[in-house]
Amino acid sequence: MRDRYRKIVFLTGAGISAESGLATFRQENGLWNNHRVEDVATIEAYEKNPDYVHNFYNQMKPELWKAQPNPAHLAITRLQQNYPAEVHIITQNIDTLHEKANSKNIHHIHGQINQAVCLNCGQIMETWGEVTSETVCPQCHVSSMMKPNIVFFGENLLCMDIVDELLHHADLFISVGTSGVVFPAAGFVQTAKYYGADTIEFNMEPTSNNFYFDKHIMGKAGLTLPRFVDDLLQ
Ligand code: OAD
Repeated sequence: MRDRYRKIVFLTGAGISAESGLATFRQENGLWNNHRVEDVATIEAYEKNPDYVHNFYNQMKPELWKAQPNPAHLAITRLQQNYPAEVHIITQNIDTLHEKANSKNIHHIHGQINQAVCLNCGQIMETWGEVTSETVCPQCHVSSMMKPNIVFFGENLLCMDIVDELLHHADLFISVGTSGVVFPAAGFVQTAKYYGADTIEFNMEPTSNNFYFDKHIMGKAGLTLPRFVDDLLQ
């Protein structure tokens, strides 16, 4: 491990938001234990019954709107503000807790709960309100084409050009609170390591990507990440 870093890249998953009270996907009571992915997170489901899918995400909005960042999100912001390196966040989370923590350089590869995208013209609409099959695109004025701007299984990830560039040039890659089972994000650590980054994982338990991490820091990210940032800032 190096003493000093110039380009730090975080990959965050649902675990970083767990201490803000948000459910993860695959743990006990996780979202995917209570809902079938095929019903709410595939393009086929959306085409078959758009309002069912809209409803699923509309129902999540009040909770995500209210959620507040926890010490793990704030620790990343503190690092961005005080450490002399470029610090980026690639997040799989559709919540906006990194934004609420006043972080910058945030790349939402799985989309955002507070956005809808027009399948006709590509316009992104920001809203915490309900989106339905009746919603009209503010740009092209076509209705029934606004899809939640959330990457469904089988769709391409967002911002991949930037992400590739970041993974090639990172000298420290830090994964926080992700089970490492959903590709392509699960492969980011391998790419970063291949291009020479030190790699650290923060999680409550060992993950399937264990092999590619130089260091594992076990425990709640809200405790472990602030301590790690304190050490880097010393
Ligand atoms: P998962 O639910 O698969 O994994 C959450 C991880 O966070 C687990 O490994 C937990 O051990 C860990 N964890 C839980 N609480 C933690 C805490 N307080 N501190 C540290 N770690 C903690 O969630 P993701 O890996 O984010 O995609 O799931 C990846 C993608 O699968 C999601 O973005 C979503 C889903 O399908 C889409 O919806 C496109």
